[in-house]
Amino acid sequence: MKKIDVRSKLNNYSIIIENNLLNRLEDYFDNEKFYVIIHDDHIPKEYINKIRMACKNNLIINFPEGEKSKSFSEYERIISIMQKNNIKRDACIVAVGGGVTGDLSGFIASTYLRGIGYIQVPTSLLSQIDSSVGGKVAINTDYAKNSVGSFYPPSIVLIDPLTLKTLPKRHFNNGMAEGIKYGMIYSKTLFDRISNKNIEEDLETFIYDCLMIKKYFVENDEFDSSIRQMLNFGHTYGHAYERYYNFNKYLHGEAVALGMIKSTRNTNAKNNLISVLKKYNLPISDKINEEDIVDIIKKDKKNTSKYLNMIYVDTIGEANIVKQLFRR
Ligand code: GLY
Repeated sequence: MKKIDVRSKLNNYSIIIENNLLNRLEDYFDNEKFYVIIHDDHIPKEYINKIRMACKNNLIINFPEGEKSKSFSEYERIISIMQKNNIKRDACIVAVGGGVTGDLSGFIASTYLRGIGYIQVPTSLLSQIDSSVGGKVAINTDYAKNSVGSFYPPSIVLIDPLTLKTLPKRHFNNGMAEGIKYGMIYSKTLFDRISNKNIEEDLETFIYDCLMIKKYFVENDEFDSSIRQMLNFGHTYGHAYERYYNFNKYLHGEAVALGMIKSTRNTNAKNNLISVLKKYNLPISDKINEEDIVDIIKKDKKNTSKYLNMIYVDTIGEANIVKQLFRR
């Protein structure tokens, strides 16, 4: 078992990483509390049954799988179900699933009755090493991804790496893109390990190492005004690729893979990046023309009237923030 404590100006919380944790959840739930379990319709039933057993008083709400569910309509539908069921302020949401589930449920938790608690139980690699930690919660609009949201840390994050054993390969690789990102921006050692070793042999340690990097950025810049922006390496272009194809072509990590290539300026570093992306079957090129992508970037929520902070890597393990003009 590995434990990471995250300091937050809003609410300190712990991350527990433990193989088989889903079978030992009782310690983390309170028999007196009411829980609203939120999940998508693709999550294995077995996981939900385990959560239900650990929290006796519960309401279960599911939603259609996919990025399109991070919408105003899904947000409103779930809030209405909670209100019809008279869910009170002392209830707690349990988000079980991938990044979409965590972002949507966290945003609901942050706004329902001005904020109730939520527990993250991430079951995809991407959500385990990135989106379940750091308190960024959001939904999308027709114009830009994650453009309506808040910073709202979870009460606790419960990670069982064994859930990854049944994750389809494409989704595992999708998460690896975020692991590669940590190597690119902060740790050449991690990058080399991902390039040369079999990460699946010890996922507990891999998840821990990625989250220790995330902890560093989040604790030092919780509200994303300086160094936390480095975690967006590859994401500005990545979000634009996702949006261009209306979220139908690329998974998030796949689009970030393309974005990281665009944001790696040194040829040697770019070649090393491309070979590790190939190792995990991530895309390395797309035929969209630059103008169409830049058009979408101009609508990015981080685009102030003057400039956009872009993250570039010239040396693997070090990122730079560059103010770049994308006139609207
Ligand atoms: N996933 C980027 C961040 O948490 O800031």
